[in-house]
Amino acid sequence: MTQLAIAGGKPLRHAAFPHWPFWNHEEVAAVQAVVESGRWGALQGTEVQHFEAEFAAYHGAAHGIAVTNGTVALKLALTASGVGVGDEVIMPGYTFIATASAALEIGAVPVFADIDPQTYTLDPASVEACLTSRTRAIIPVHLGGRPADMDALMAMAERHHLVVIEDAAQAWGASWNGRMAGTLGHVAGFSFQSSKNITAGEGGMILTNDPDIGALARSLSNCGRQPDGVWYAHYVLGGNYRLSELPGAILRVQLRRYPDQLAQRQANAVYLEQALSEVPGITTLRADPRVTSNAYHILMLQYHPAAFGGASRERFLAALRAEGIEGIHGGYSLPAYRQPMLLAENFGLATPPLYSGVYPHKVDYRQVHCPVTDHVCDTEALWVRQSMLLAERQDMDDIAAAMMKIQSHSDELQE
Ligand SMILES: Cc1ncc(COP(=O)(O)O)c(C=O)c1O
Repeated sequence: MTQLAIAGGKPLRHAAFPHWPFWNHEEVAAVQAVVESGRWGALQGTEVQHFEAEFAAYHGAAHGIAVTNGTVALKLALTASGVGVGDEVIMPGYTFIATASAALEIGAVPVFADIDPQTYTLDPASVEACLTSRTRAIIPVHLGGRPADMDALMAMAERHHLVVIEDAAQAWGASWNGRMAGTLGHVAGFSFQSSKNITAGEGGMILTNDPDIGALARSLSNCGRQPDGVWYAHYVLGGNYRLSELPGAILRVQLRRYPDQLAQRQANAVYLEQALSEVPGITTLRADPRVTSNAYHILMLQYHPAAFGGASRERFLAALRAEGIEGIHGGYSLPAYRQPMLLAENFGLATPPLYSGVYPHKVDYRQVHCPVTDHVCDTEALWVRQSMLLAERQDMDDIAAAMMKIQSHSDELQE
């Protein structure tokens, strides 16, 4: 008789994991208050202003500038810190496309470095190998909420006079050596898009301790205005990237709830990692005492097919779903440098530097080779969604039990 649900056996679990976003009457009341106030824009109301101050204070940053999304936050952070046309920006190949598109949109050139196989964040040695005389910035991505090796990257940036823009899109409340993400580099971009641990459907935030970067980012987000300027005078090429009061009000509520949710995710992640240490073929990323807070937007696990009779990750995930464990998936299926947009150089009219002569080299992303990133995308990574970590401890037991069940009956995984 078969055991695995995918082979006709009984599923291990029937209950659903928590849905995301989490909301209650507080979000409803906050939105209602804004609607009834008639002050829907941040230029009229105070919700966004308060949220900026509260989010910056939570991270220990001096300046917070709320914007429409995380991609815009990165784009404005790059421009405000002096990165521009023809500058090379080193970033991990294992990231969401927005890290690269933010650079491309301002005419900079994404250069992809590999990740550390045990942290899934930038490998400083690979970054070092990418440095050229045109390198202007590094974007460490705190992927899944785990801070990158900021000791090594900041030291390298200092040696080579580079700007460090943290892609903290997934790292609210993360910290490294006790210092919060968003204050580790020169400037940072956060996201509040639907899947994120603090969300209003969309939204973004720039954090910095540098008053000049903060002032320029503010101006760029507000049509190039200046605080003491004439209203219809525009002093730099900016845009209207202001967040509106409705998401601002929701985000304030989400932030108030956040510390408790963060603690629950962290406790469940640590417990689940411990439980999974019993399962052959499933490993966890390296513990590092310098990661003093992991935001666990994603709990990253590693899948080793050899311990599952050679079954592919996709087959394993299908077996997991059949057992009633929904919400774990394989993450980015393509490295950023293998995205069709980059391979076909479909940059549109707005981004000519790769052709214009400003940048003297021919960039061919087909030549980029980051073996760890390739392996992690193709076969290894398992992503446990943050909302699963808001379940109870016995739900973590179910996840571990399902993986153990699949491993011990891996002969039934053959298609
Ligand atoms: C690593 C990373 N960078 C940048 C972004 C861009 O944020 P947004 O979707 O809010 O533009 C995201 C989120 O989607 C992300 O996960």
